[in-house]
Amino acid sequence: MRSFLNVEDLGDLKEALREAAEIKADRYKYDTLGKNKTLLMVFFNNSLRTRLSTQKAAMNLGMNVIVLDVNAGAWKLETERGVIMDGDKSEHLLEAIPVMGCYCDVIGIRSFAGLTDRDYDYAETVYHQFEKYSGKPVFAMETATVHPLQAFADLITINEYAAKRGKRPKVVLTWAPHPKALPQAVPNSFAQWMLAADVDFVITHPEGYELDPAFTKGATIEYDQRKAFEGADFIYAKNWSCPGVTNREDYGKVLSKDMSWTVDAEHMSWTNDAHFMHCLPVRRGMIVTDDVIEAPTSLVIPEAANREISATVVLKRILQSK
Ligand code: CP
Repeated sequence: MRSFLNVEDLGDLKEALREAAEIKADRYKYDTLGKNKTLLMVFFNNSLRTRLSTQKAAMNLGMNVIVLDVNAGAWKLETERGVIMDGDKSEHLLEAIPVMGCYCDVIGIRSFAGLTDRDYDYAETVYHQFEKYSGKPVFAMETATVHPLQAFADLITINEYAAKRGKRPKVVLTWAPHPKALPQAVPNSFAQWMLAADVDFVITHPEGYELDPAFTKGATIEYDQRKAFEGADFIYAKNWSCPGVTNREDYGKVLSKDMSWTVDAEHMSWTNDAHFMHCLPVRRGMIVTDDVIEAPTSLVIPEAANREISATVVLKRILQSK
């Protein structure tokens, strides 16, 4: 595997889940696979879980790790071609990328959407530049439009807890309010991965928040949140800004802060005693109430723990295919 961006990059999902269970049973089983190999993790944006879990995954495989925070200590990077660099950006990404490639064997990239230019974001311009110019295998640690390590960890978690319910689970992705404009990467990937998995999948959000059909084709969209929640086994809450599908001019905007969408105990009472899920970080009182996130049915910590597992499987695949 030279690139990990979408669910199809992993091939057969059942086999990927089997590998995840194998790693979870013994996360050091492949601890010599990455000997004398170096992972470079490049962060254009902040992170807690991705930073720690991916580094831990690399260490599980015996790799060395370098972490570069582009906005803290590196030269400010220009990402657009054709610009006159007379501002505060000292280096162009097109030189920086091949230089980074000289010092490592695998590169992980975190580069969020700018949320101003939809075409630029949805073309995954920065990620594809790393693919093209680094000369190394690359993987997404949340890029402009996707967060596959998170979606894989979410699927591992749902698979584990659905097995305890003994039925094909109903999984609901619900929009919830947030004070700031957030990217669509997490809901895009969650939808893409759920549609490839063995679950009944429903998305609910206020009108205007339709996700890009490239990620949601085949999903049931239900604008009535209560109807969507009925009979649900898993509630996955997330905010996202306007994807600009119905109105491109609204791309990246906050169209609603409707607090009636906040997931509280009443919302959860409409479900089949559902598990609550969120990728974290989460804003309490906006996305979810304290009692729901702290309930025994909340899976936010097991999901975060499974980030180490999803990252270990992905890095193992990359190392094995080199
Ligand atoms: N869920 C997630 O990716 O968390 P971080 O942004 O802290 O890495």
